[in-house]
Amino acid sequence: MKSLSIKSFWKGILIASLTSTSGLALGQETDAREVIWLSGAERAALMSEMRLFLSTSQQILEATLAEDMTKVETLARPVGVKLMKDTPASLKDKLPAGFTQLGPQPQAHLGFENIADEASGLGDQTIILQQLADLQKSCVACHAQYQIKVRD
Ligand code: HEC
Repeated sequence: MKSLSIKSFWKGILIASLTSTSGLALGQETDAREVIWLSGAERAALMSEMRLFLSTSQQILEATLAEDMTKVETLARPVGVKLMKDTPASLKDKLPAGFTQLGPQPQAHLGFENIADEASGLGDQTIILQQLADLQKSCVACHAQYQIKVRD
């Protein structure tokens, strides 16, 4: 009896791993987003920028609701045009034009810059929430279009 339950334990593990492997394969087959090939280090740098985008968006939302416009500007400004200019040329060369030019990347950075401008200007809460909603459309649009794979 005991050995039977151990057997079924291993059977369970086998089934679980087979299911998750085929799930992964299925995910790759259906992921039709354009692939951007980067080195491991480039991917890490870009993903760290992405996590900064997410945490900044969340903090801007919170600071806007708290009507702390000084904080909104302090959060948004460094992620705006300044950060866009800091993207290394070697990485820019590997990113498709749709990503970097008129596409979602400048829109995202300009979106943060607009929020910083509004916060340091009139600081209208509703306008900033609208700007944040518009900015997040560029996140959604780009994520729907591109995926990153590593090739060192
Ligand atoms: C110009 C394109 C583009 C824009 C704009 C963009 N992203 Fe991304 N983001 C990507 C790509 C590509 C990935 C990797 C997706 C993949 O490989 O499946 C990614 C991944 C991420 C990740 C995962 C990070 C990790 O550590 O794995 C987060 C979080 C993220 N983006 C947040 C955001 C937020 C928030 C915004 C908007 C403020 C945003 N992104 C705007 C292209 C973009």
